[in-house]
Amino acid sequence: MADSGELGVIAAQTKLRRTFAIISHPDAGKTTLTEKLLLYAGMIRTAGMVKGRKARKAVSSDWMEMERERGISITASAMQFLYKGVVINVLDTPGHQDFSEDTYRTLTAADSAVMVIDAASGVEEQTRKLFSVCRMRGIPILTFINKMDLPGREPLELMADVEEALDIQASALNWPIGSGKAFVGVADREAGDVILFEKQGIGGSERAASSRLSMEDAVASGKVSSELHEQASYELELLNEAGNPFSRDAFLAGDVTPVFFGSALTNFGVEPFFDRFSSLAPFPSARPVTLDSGEESIVEPVSEDFSAYVFKIQANMDPKHRDSMAFLRINSGKFERDLVVKHKRSAKDVRLSRSHSMFGGERTTVDAAFPGDIVGVVNPGSFAIGDTISTKGGFSFKPMPKFPPEVVAQIRPKDLMKRKAFDKGIEQLKNEGAMLILRKFGQPNSEPLVAAVGRLQFDVLQFRLQTEYRVETQLDALPYSYGAWLVGDPKAFKPPSSAMLAEDGEGRVIMLCVREWEKQYALEQNPQHKLLDFVD
Ligand code: G4P
Repeated sequence: MADSGELGVIAAQTKLRRTFAIISHPDAGKTTLTEKLLLYAGMIRTAGMVKGRKARKAVSSDWMEMERERGISITASAMQFLYKGVVINVLDTPGHQDFSEDTYRTLTAADSAVMVIDAASGVEEQTRKLFSVCRMRGIPILTFINKMDLPGREPLELMADVEEALDIQASALNWPIGSGKAFVGVADREAGDVILFEKQGIGGSERAASSRLSMEDAVASGKVSSELHEQASYELELLNEAGNPFSRDAFLAGDVTPVFFGSALTNFGVEPFFDRFSSLAPFPSARPVTLDSGEESIVEPVSEDFSAYVFKIQANMDPKHRDSMAFLRINSGKFERDLVVKHKRSAKDVRLSRSHSMFGGERTTVDAAFPGDIVGVVNPGSFAIGDTISTKGGFSFKPMPKFPPEVVAQIRPKDLMKRKAFDKGIEQLKNEGAMLILRKFGQPNSEPLVAAVGRLQFDVLQFRLQTEYRVETQLDALPYSYGAWLVGDPKAFKPPSSAMLAEDGEGRVIMLCVREWEKQYALEQNPQHKLLDFVD
């Protein structure tokens, strides 16, 4: 436990931290923007933009690959470094084929999110989903409209798209001057001047040279043509008159998203964006808890008592160790190695003796960490996703939201003699929260159904059952791609003919359906019931 003399240190460290996730639809530029953040933070001297990125993506998560190639410090879950005096904790939210429930859960560990949108495509499906989790958790969002160096949609149209698709007010803090090949810079709406960029290195491998000047000087110097000037001035005037105002409070409340335009590849607009991000994004603040008495309360980050929760468990991270790692998001106090904490769910004391981050593929020990930080501890076996740990005890953080599954399958052991080991494995994985295990409603002894957000979770499940319980399994995919939690008496509920009702380990009932519109149809047929996308 921290003594009171340390409170000042904890307060100062907390204020320095920006813990956030970058969310995007695949290919919008999340990896490129992350890489540029490292470039401007001085973590890497040149941004690789290495050939064959697509081939690498096929094999593993981008960051693990970056770690291997560049030898920089990246935990499997979060990367920490300094950006102009601010401690950045950027969370890995895998997309693509790695998209899974972990991606959603990781967002709960973020204090803010950066949403990257491709200027040619606008808001896309995966962004919408991730965005809805941020909204549900009250996580403020900054928007970076990327790929302005390519022909794309009109900036005003993109703003309208963000507002409509995500039901949030968008307020542009900078505005592009030109687009495609003619994208020369951005107007800083707050400062009232313009920032012009020049390409450096191949594919933006080096920082872009930039100059800040008044629009008049930019035109006079010939760097901004009168045509571009006219267009930008017209749009800026429109924004001033009809655009949404920006206030940091409205942003922190999740009512407005500040919008920035740029090009991650050529570095145009990247540094001004991260500079504003550092000043706008919130540092860790109080988190809601439920006291053992049932009362609602909060835990302040600056506290003598340490507290954290488990947001991710990764098994078999290191083939040499054959163990699993629990990732903690620290919410209050100071973490120190060998700290003894109360594990709320098991009501036992646990020593956090083996705490790690990953460094260049090797584990390094973490000796001290502060609110907002992510620490990996070797899972003592009792940790499950969503668990609260603290030195004081007596409360729990909000449970992890349960997400609607998009893939469902029936699972059984190939060898019936392995039934016992199979049941044990399923029970353990269910307790860990690695996957949603369901049974047909009213049939508690039926074969388990496994439900997940992404197919990768099934591969992990089968792999773990095989390596940890020596059970080979047969997985038969079911046609359900949508799920919604049922509120109301399930016996009185009439599901659509192709839908099915199933039950989780805690007796919660979910409707699984093949087509999305069936949810609406079911509601019309069952007006006394409710269907929820997320439950806490
Ligand atoms: P992701 O992590 O969101 O999936 O996207 P990623 O950064 O991998 O970017 C997807 C593709 O878009 C990459 O091209 C990347 O180079 C390109 N890209 C990212 N930002 C910009 C930008 O601002 N302008 C332009 N013109 N392109 C951008 P790729 O062909 O898939 O990969 P590579 O082989 O070129 O590296």
